[in-house]
Amino acid sequence: MWVVTDPDMLRHHRYIRSNGYDPAWVVENQMGPHPLWLLEALTEVLPIEPGMRVLDLGCGRAMTSIFLAREFGAQVWATDLWIPAEENERRIAEAGLSELVTAVHAEAHALPFEPEFFDLVVSLDAYQYFGTDDLYLGYLLSFLKPGGRIGAVMPGTVRELGEEIPSTLAPFWEWDFCCWHTPQWWRSHWAKTRKVGIDHVGTIEDGWRDWLQFNDTITPWVTGWWVDEVATTHEMLMADQGRELCFVSITATKPTAAKEATTT
Ligand SMILES: C[S@@+](CC[C@H](N)C(=O)[O-])C[C@H]1O[C@@H](n2cnc3c(N)ncnc32)[C@H](O)[C@@H]1O
Repeated sequence: MWVVTDPDMLRHHRYIRSNGYDPAWVVENQMGPHPLWLLEALTEVLPIEPGMRVLDLGCGRAMTSIFLAREFGAQVWATDLWIPAEENERRIAEAGLSELVTAVHAEAHALPFEPEFFDLVVSLDAYQYFGTDDLYLGYLLSFLKPGGRIGAVMPGTVRELGEEIPSTLAPFWEWDFCCWHTPQWWRSHWAKTRKVGIDHVGTIEDGWRDWLQFNDTITPWVTGWWVDEVATTHEMLMADQGRELCFVSITATKPTAAKEATTT
């Protein structure tokens, strides 16, 4: 039972739409840095139109899928591996959005969709788990219409860290942080496939501060293993102060012509 008494506790001056969501609901369903803030930042560079077919890949507890349907009238396939579809179906129904949002349980390399089905693919704090494979983007693009777009936001680094972990981060470092990369790395990773044109790549301004703000705000409310997780995240972000850690945002378009994409 989540009892969050302050309705303003997750207010953010930049993320006006996200401010409309119940903090208790966000805390209950969070799986990492505030996913609605990450998505709202992405929508600043990735327009979403009513009726668009959107794949929300690695949607977790489907908060972002619900947001896409409620805020933009998109049709969303809320697709995730760790969270059962039945659980997300219940949350989607409680939000009154069963007509627009379909919950799917799938592994990112075995997606159960028709070719060229989607207008848009988004992935928030998830793409780094499967998308660092050089060949993954090509597979994912098979589900996107020509002219369709893809956007992802994920934790990243200001410079490639390679084998040397900075001493400030070393006490907190988990081996799987090796999937965190720079905006330049992600640009090259996608562009070298020649299958997309890169529209935008960069870091989210003050992304690490937002992560810290979210982490610290939810700290009194989390239970179980999240208690250690938020404590360690606080220590790590305070030690780093944005010197190494950031959030990377990248968007690209699948070309309409059969020719190879050129990068911008
Ligand atoms: C940190 S959680 C973020 C969830 C959600 N996007 C959010 O921000 O709340 C990462 C998500 O990626 C999903 N994921 C990781 N590996 C995956 C894979 N191979 N196929 C599909 N989903 C995957 C997990 O199921 C998990 O829900």
